[in-house]
Amino acid sequence: MRLTVLGGGGFRVPLIYRQLLTQEPGPDVRDVVLHDLDEGRLAAVHAVLEQMAADRPDAPKVRTTTDLDEALDGADFVFSAIRVAGLAGRTVDERVALDLGVLGQETTGPGGLAYALRTIPVCLDLADRVARRAPNAWVINFTNPAGMVTEAMRRRLGDRVIGICDSPIGLGERAARALGLDVARVTMDYVGLNHLGWLRGLRVDGVDRLPDLLADDAALGRVEEARLLGPDWVRSLGAIPNEYLYYYYFNREAVASIREAPATRGEFLRQQQEGFYAAVARRPGAALEIWTRTRAERDSTYMAESRDSAGAGERRQEDVAGGGYQRVALDLMAGISGGRASTMILNVRNGSAVPGLPADAVVEVPCVVDAAGARPIATEPLEGSMLGLVQQVKAVEQLGIEAAASGSAAAAVKALALHPLVDSVHTARQLLAGYRERLPGLADLLR
Ligand code: G6P
Ligand code: MN
Repeated sequence: MRLTVLGGGGFRVPLIYRQLLTQEPGPDVRDVVLHDLDEGRLAAVHAVLEQMAADRPDAPKVRTTTDLDEALDGADFVFSAIRVAGLAGRTVDERVALDLGVLGQETTGPGGLAYALRTIPVCLDLADRVARRAPNAWVINFTNPAGMVTEAMRRRLGDRVIGICDSPIGLGERAARALGLDVARVTMDYVGLNHLGWLRGLRVDGVDRLPDLLADDAALGRVEEARLLGPDWVRSLGAIPNEYLYYYYFNREAVASIREAPATRGEFLRQQQEGFYAAVARRPGAALEIWTRTRAERDSTYMAESRDSAGAGERRQEDVAGGGYQRVALDLMAGISGGRASTMILNVRNGSAVPGLPADAVVEVPCVVDAAGARPIATEPLEGSMLGLVQQVKAVEQLGIEAAASGSAAAAVKALALHPLVDSVHTARQLLAGYRERLPGLADLLR
C-alpha cells in the first residue's frame, strides 16, 4: 500500500515512520510519500527517516514532493497533518486571546476557533483534490482542531475521512494500567467531542471498574488527568475528564498560569522547532540524533504550565514514551485494510450514537473499525452538565465551520461570542479584530 502524508515535513512524521517499522501486526505499507510546501523541512525529515531505516533493508521506501497531485496519485491512505500558518500562527492564536484576558490555547477556546477559521478553507481544498486524484483513498485527519476539521472535510469526502486524537485512548489506557488491568480486555465508555470528553466507565467482563479507580487515591495518582484536575473533583464528576477539560473547569488558573509563563507553548515550540530544522540543515548526518533529543524535550514539557499550576508534578515516563497519534493512526489503518474488526475511539459522524447532538455532528466516541471504515457505537445519554457543554461547544464549532466555509465575519463573531470561555460579545469582536489584523490572509477570508 501507499501512504501519503500531507504536512510531511512536520516534526512528528518520524514517529509515524518508526511505528511503521516496528508495529506488529502493522499495515502493509511499501511506499511513503511525504508532501509539504517547504522543501527544507521535507529534506530534514527525510534525513531523519533514512537514518531510522539505516539497518532495515525491508523498510518502506520514502519519497518527498512539493507537488500535491503527484503526492496523491496512487495513495491508498492519506494522513492529513498540516499546520496552516505554522507555529507563528499558533502564537498569534494564543497571544491575541491572552491579551484580552481569555484562554489562549492551540485547540481550546477562541485560539482553537481562530486556528479552525484559517485551516478549514485549506482542508476543504485538500479534500477536493483527494476526491479527484485518489477517490478511493481513506483520509485520516490529524489536523487540529481535529473535530471541526474532520466535520468540514466530511462535506467533500463523507465517511472516507476519519479524525484521530491520542488523548482519549491515552486516558483510557492510563486508567486501565492504574488498576493493573489488561488494556486489551477493557471496554472504554468514553464520550464527547475532540478534546472535550469524559471516561465514564471501564468495563472488564461486563463489570465497571471505574468506581474502584475513583475510590483509590494511589491509583488515581497514576493517571495524569486525575492529578491535573485533582482526585476530589474527578470523584465529584464520577468520570475522568479529558485533560483539555482543565481549561474549562480551572479556566482562571489556566489563563493566569499561561500568562505568567515566560513563553506560551506556541512560542516555546516555535523557537525549539526553528532550532531543530536549522541544526539538521547544518549537520544532516546527525539528523536522527538531533530529532531524538528535541522530541524528548517537546514531550516532557507537554502541558507543563497547567501541570505546574495544578501541582500535578512531572509526566510519568510511560506517558512520555506512550503511543501517541502514530499508534492510533496505524491501528486504524490496519483495521481498515486488514478487515479484522476492532474498537477504537475516533472522530466520526454522530448519527444517533450520542443522544442530544445533531446527526451530522462529528463526535469522539468508541467505534467499530473494519474494512467498511469506522462506525460509532451507541452511548448512554450524557448527564446534564456534560450534555449542556458539548451541545454548546458543538453549536460553536458548527458556526465556526460555517464562517470558514462561507467567509462570513458575522458568523465568526457569533461563534467566538457563544464560546463558553469567551465572556462578552465585545471581547468576541475584539478577538476577531485582533486575529484579522495579525493572521495573514484572515482579513481577506472573512468579509
Ligand atoms: C496532544 C493533543 C494534540 C495536540 C498536542 C499538542 O497530543 O492530542 O491534539 O496538538 O497534544 O502538543 P504540543 O507538543 O504541540 O504542545
Ligand atoms: Mn488531539
